[in-house]
Amino acid sequence: MTISVSVFAFVQRRVKVFLLVFLITILVACWALTRSNESVPVTRLSKKLMQEIQQKIEVHNVEMFKQALKPINLKLSELERNFQDYGKKRFLPVKYLAEKDRKRILITGGAGFVGSHLTDALMMAGHEVTVADNYFTGRKQNVEHWIGHENFELINHDIVEPLLIEVDQIYHLASPASPPNYMYNPIKTIKTNAIGTLNMLGLAKRVHARLLLASTSEVYGDPEQHPQNEDYWGHVNPIGPRACYDEGKRVAETMCYAYAKQEHVEVRVARIFNTFGPRMHMSDGRVVSNFIMQALQDKPLTVYGSGTQTRSFQYVSDLVNGLILLMNSNYSKPVNIGNPDEHTIMQFAQIIKKAVGGKAPIVNVKKMEDDPQRRKPDISRALKYLGWKPSVALEVGINRTIEYFKRELHKSKKSKLVDL
Ligand SMILES: NC(=O)c1ccc[n+]([C@@H]2O[C@H](COP(=O)([O-])OP(=O)(O)OC[C@H]3O[C@@H](n4cnc5c(N)ncnc54)[C@H](O)[C@@H]3O)[C@@H](O)[C@H]2O)c1
Repeated sequence: MTISVSVFAFVQRRVKVFLLVFLITILVACWALTRSNESVPVTRLSKKLMQEIQQKIEVHNVEMFKQALKPINLKLSELERNFQDYGKKRFLPVKYLAEKDRKRILITGGAGFVGSHLTDALMMAGHEVTVADNYFTGRKQNVEHWIGHENFELINHDIVEPLLIEVDQIYHLASPASPPNYMYNPIKTIKTNAIGTLNMLGLAKRVHARLLLASTSEVYGDPEQHPQNEDYWGHVNPIGPRACYDEGKRVAETMCYAYAKQEHVEVRVARIFNTFGPRMHMSDGRVVSNFIMQALQDKPLTVYGSGTQTRSFQYVSDLVNGLILLMNSNYSKPVNIGNPDEHTIMQFAQIIKKAVGGKAPIVNVKKMEDDPQRRKPDISRALKYLGWKPSVALEVGINRTIEYFKRELHKSKKSKLVDL
């Protein structure tokens, strides 16, 4: 009996444990089932939604970003353009010329007053220009606006030494032109006009180039004929203070025609009369620059001698047009290029004094030796063969030149202040 009671108790305990375990298993299974039934679709749905939302946000962000970047991009490309342009010069407009029309042109003395204006005209016409200059009276500054242009080259060269380059035309201008400059070193002036011209004619012969000589009205000396035409042989003192220049130019002309005759070099000879304009040197001692500088600084305008001697002044752009027309014409004898509008030096001083204003007096000082008394070109040859005559009125040219000298004077005052 005792045994059967304890067996029953044992079985009862086992059943209880079993039931408990079963119950727990059922509960766990139910919990798991609930979880699996509910959470799986919810998670999938939110993931998909999340993805879509993320995508939309991304697209939106990209759009927003793009919009925000727009002005920055514009600024960047502007900066890039500026960076590319940095150091690049803006040149005066240059015409495009086809290869067959484009000439390779040498200008000796191209950094001087006339030469630099000629350089401008030929560059703007689309030619390739080489300037050879030793900067005796010229300045790099006169042509610096072309430095870096593909059609332009500047050579520091003294034409007393030979120069070997390939060119089609040579404008031979190298020579000091104002009395104080050519008298400063008369031997060098003769060498430049004689040996220098010989070198340029030799170059013209070798490369079959046409040469234009910038000669001068000084070949007529102190003329006995008025006005002077090209057939007049002149009245020159061969041993006077001006002879280095006058005779230098005369022998340069002689050499041109010797090369034309003997070596068939094509030559053109321009007899240039007094010319003025911007880029004349402020202190080169020529009448126009003297008077303008004196008037601008309220100093007395100095007239050499009585002031009754005459000059005819042409503006530089008229001269440049004449030189280009002559170079490209078929006419090979000397041609006067000047303005026949004749004034006494005294009248001229008064015109400048009036244009500048101010109270500077006009004073007479000692006459210069061998100073020509009357000078006026006969330009009928230029008119007939080149269709050329000057077109810039004296007052217009004078005002432009005064403006230039004012700027130069201002610059030199500023640089003096900086020096201090
Ligand atoms: N301006 C005038 O009124 C005038 C009148 C008659 C003739 N010309 C002639 O026109 C030409 C130019 O005159 P400008 O008024 O321009 O004078 P400029 O003195 O301003 O120019 C002459 C140029 O030649 C250069 N030069 C001088 N000797 C040289 C050499 N040995 N080698 C290389 N370069 C040299 C100078 O440095 C200068 O740049 C000159 O031949 C001059 O005789 C000028």
